[in-house]
Amino acid sequence: MASNRFFFKLLLMLARVGLFKTIYRFQPSVVALAQVNESHSKAAMDKFSLPERFIGTEKSVWVEYIQLALKHKPLNLGQGFPDFHAPENVTKALAASATSENPLLNQYTRGFGHPRLVNALSKLYSRILNRDLNPNSEILVTSGAYEGLFVAIHGHTRPGDEWIIIEPFFDCYEPMILGAGGTPRFIALKPKRTSGNISSGDWVLDKEELEGLFNEKTKGIIVNTPHNPTGKVFTREELQVIADLAKKWNAIVISDEVYEWLVYKPNEHVRIATLPGMYERTITIGSAGKTFSVTGWKIGWAYGPANLIYNLQIVHQNTVYTCATTIQEAIAIGFEQEIARYGQPDCYFESLARDLLPKRDYMASFLREVGMNPTVPEGGYFMIANWTALADKVELSTEKDQYKDYKFTKWMTKNVGLQGIPPSAFYSTEHKHLGEDNVRYCFIKRDENLQEAARILKEWKARQ
Ligand SMILES: Cc1ncc(COP(=O)(O)O)c(C=O)c1O
Repeated sequence: MASNRFFFKLLLMLARVGLFKTIYRFQPSVVALAQVNESHSKAAMDKFSLPERFIGTEKSVWVEYIQLALKHKPLNLGQGFPDFHAPENVTKALAASATSENPLLNQYTRGFGHPRLVNALSKLYSRILNRDLNPNSEILVTSGAYEGLFVAIHGHTRPGDEWIIIEPFFDCYEPMILGAGGTPRFIALKPKRTSGNISSGDWVLDKEELEGLFNEKTKGIIVNTPHNPTGKVFTREELQVIADLAKKWNAIVISDEVYEWLVYKPNEHVRIATLPGMYERTITIGSAGKTFSVTGWKIGWAYGPANLIYNLQIVHQNTVYTCATTIQEAIAIGFEQEIARYGQPDCYFESLARDLLPKRDYMASFLREVGMNPTVPEGGYFMIANWTALADKVELSTEKDQYKDYKFTKWMTKNVGLQGIPPSAFYSTEHKHLGEDNVRYCFIKRDENLQEAARILKEWKARQ
């Protein structure tokens, strides 16, 4: 096939330069044949090009920055995962499940969720939501929160449906909506202040702008609290505004709550599903990766009313079908143990946020010391910081990217040895400029690595 194409291309080329005329007297028909073949092979290749609904979604900041890290080996504060050991109770539970006397723990389990895990999730969330969640019809176990988002969006999108996305946003929301044939509509959180001590609570939505986005085509809104990348923990009042609009326009809410246990006191995580009349129209997404610091295990879940979860089950059964049994068993055991000590200081749901608080404060202080202005997060394990006061120390012109934060983070990776993520990746094309002045760092890292980051930045700052 490839050699045929090459042969006809060669014929066409020879014919075009006229050489062929002298050696082949049927030249016109050969040229025509070669041309037909060229257009056929182009059509054949077009057949395998990226379908239109994915055009524009090719670029992934994760793919690009992992490559960058592999090449330059910086201290990586980019991607969101701990660089320390996961809690022993879950890793031991995984080892025990894999080597259990029960051979079935290494075989396929129930497609919509391993029974022991959906039962544990139902027990936990029934208690928190103060209503009985049916483990079989109101909970779906997914391959990470990522798949939970995918099946929620695909299971509830018809062509032309509109989804409201709050910027900056976890970057997969937009391509998932586009891939499902929907239309994303964007609204940006904006900081009330840009100098002095900024908290993620200063990043707010404009109520009128939000109201203006809702219409008959609105299928739903995606809310992420605690929020990646700002660390904002939406207040009850803010969620009430969203809930009232969702009810007014008969829209649903996908509530991405993967950082539900990472909230720094006195802030409080409010689940929008617990607001009056909201359980009926909310799909809540969770992540075992974030809950138990095992991001590589890729187990998540969605819970909500059976009629909404049904659509997710259909997409799940026809794509992933079932998630890893052994890992679900281990997470179930982890939940059972945490449920037994729920509300106590040694419960991992409490202790992880407590352990992260000094890391958050340390990062905020060393970023300030070198001249950046961080937004101190109320939740999650990311911190965005305005780097523009340091612009004269960076050779942005050596980087080819369109956006300043991409240039800054790439230059820092290559020349200073510290990697962050460019927040413009979390904005729609028309709003990317809103993210350009910031960089996102992750602080769920060992103290020595945070100290190393501080050292790298201070030494760089001291350079002429
Ligand atoms: C806001 C948000 N949602 C979803 C996910 C995906 O979670 P998981 O690793 O469980 O797929 C992440 C991961 O970073 C995230 O930050």
